[in-house]
Amino acid sequence: MRNEEIEAIRQAANIVDIISDYIPLTKKGNNYVAPCPFHKSGQERTPSFTVSKDKQIFNCFACNKGGNVFSFIMDYQGVGFLEAVKTVADKVGIDFKYNNKNAKSETYKKEFETMDLACKFYLNNLNTKNGVEAKKYLLDRGIDDEIIKEFEIGLSTQNRTSLYDFLTKQGVDLQTIDNIGLVNKNGVDVYDTFLNRIMIPIKNINGQVVGFTGRIYHNEDQAKYVNSKETVIFKKSEIIFNFDKAKNYAKQEKQIIVVEGNMDAIKMFASGIKNVVALQGTSLTKFHLDVFKKLNIPVIVMLDNDAAGLNATLKNGELLHNYGIETKVVRLTGYKDPDEYIRGNGVEALISNINNATTFVDFKINYLISNTNFNSSIDVADFIKEVAKLLKSVDAVTQDVILSKLENNTTVSVEIIKNELRNNLVSEKRIDSLDQKRRTNISKKRSKYDILCKKILFYLLNGVKYINVFRQEIGYFEEKKERELFNEINYFYKNNQDVFLADFITHINGNQELSEMVNECLNENNDEELNYDSFIEYISLMKKEMNKIELEKTKKQVKSEMDIDAKVKLIEKLAKLKKGCVDNEKGD
Ligand code: CTP
Ligand code: MN
Repeated sequence: MRNEEIEAIRQAANIVDIISDYIPLTKKGNNYVAPCPFHKSGQERTPSFTVSKDKQIFNCFACNKGGNVFSFIMDYQGVGFLEAVKTVADKVGIDFKYNNKNAKSETYKKEFETMDLACKFYLNNLNTKNGVEAKKYLLDRGIDDEIIKEFEIGLSTQNRTSLYDFLTKQGVDLQTIDNIGLVNKNGVDVYDTFLNRIMIPIKNINGQVVGFTGRIYHNEDQAKYVNSKETVIFKKSEIIFNFDKAKNYAKQEKQIIVVEGNMDAIKMFASGIKNVVALQGTSLTKFHLDVFKKLNIPVIVMLDNDAAGLNATLKNGELLHNYGIETKVVRLTGYKDPDEYIRGNGVEALISNINNATTFVDFKINYLISNTNFNSSIDVADFIKEVAKLLKSVDAVTQDVILSKLENNTTVSVEIIKNELRNNLVSEKRIDSLDQKRRTNISKKRSKYDILCKKILFYLLNGVKYINVFRQEIGYFEEKKERELFNEINYFYKNNQDVFLADFITHINGNQELSEMVNECLNENNDEELNYDSFIEYISLMKKEMNKIELEKTKKQVKSEMDIDAKVKLIEKLAKLKKGCVDNEKGD
């Protein structure tokens, strides 16, 4: 069965070894620690990311991420559950069959299948006599049969309904074809969106075709490119052209190159620079930044050699840099874009440009120096503010290097910059400590009961002996979320005769609320070893808390009860509860 197969894979994997493949871990007591890869941890004094070999789980007490080996791969690589299982299976040498279909593919199964059909249709056109001219165009641009196949490049013809007719013959309904933007409708007139263009499939980050970009190929007086419009499966803000192919190369090369045009990416890929993706002329979205962040490698921004490319470099570079991603910049000279650069200077010259990429901070400083009028006090003030903002994010040595460079190349006093930097840092610290205060206030406000629930649930997640004690002594939780988690624990226990946290995490995968709840329990017990006496202590504290809560509730009821008999009963109950409280407190 699938579940057992997955459990076996998790058991064969040691979470410490798997995570060590991605980030260096340091042994600390029984656990392993590292700066957390999931949040900005540059300033972390003590590493907040902990991996437990005994429990086979990880957690970060600062950002509330946590889980088992599969959760780690899902978060770190930004992949779905089954793909994470597959990754771990490969690492431990277990054969695990899995086809890359996520939930979205199921919902839009027909749409994805139709896209694949369209893709094949266009591909086939290119190999007919209609495709001779287009093929020649591609070859002239250095795109040969092998690359055509690799990128599944095709051709739409002049026949204004050929794709529509083909898909209809294949049994696809008009609604589905329209859903993915392959036809235009004008009353009853339905015709293909893409006509007489070289068709480049656009894939999502999982490698599924979700749209097309079509390029003209013989000086027609038309837009150079026509692109798919937004559809249920084509979300422009989530597209990174060639990411599906580039991802693994990027991991090998330990850097990923971002260019502007699809053609640039294809040409570089064809020339052997395969860790390349294209933005298709847009700017980076939060989705893109998250994808890059998860790769955890430097991003090299190499956009077109024109004013728009320069502005986009400044803007996207800043977005990446501020997102905590190591960012570098290449500015090409002499040619418009990487494609033309390769044609003019050869791929070796482009590689050498890539190898000499400057850091974003250096690039920005140079840009600021050459674009500031040092005779204008307004300009100089802006310059100082901008430089101080940049310096904040670099280490002390780099700060000194940059400051001495400024001393030699500008008329600005280094002291003023240092002063501005100090002011910035002081005001930030103030904000930080305010935040800190707010946070501790919040945690103070959390009830004792709530904290105890999490502590106890953590134990319940770790073995049947705790569950039995809890059932006998307390048996239920007051809060809905806690109750749901406890139900799930019981269900898992019934089916598996015991509860092992790392496997339980697999069991609730997909239920975000429960997963978050489990992480909160992990964090509540951060670094604490399982200890039976502590558990018994928590149970007794919990009883006391429950008694207190019940007491408060009953007091209110007594006040508001009008019926005399009922009131008497409530008062009797109150007395018992008070006794319970006293009894408990004697034990302190
Ligand atoms: N673009 C577009 N529509 C246009 C022009 C450009 O959608 N009319 C988008 C395309 O995604 C293109 C990117 O902007 O890849 C960059 O534009 P440009 O540099 O002009 O295109 P190139 O990639 O250089 O295309 P080519 O080399 O084929 O001329
Ligand atoms: Mn170009």
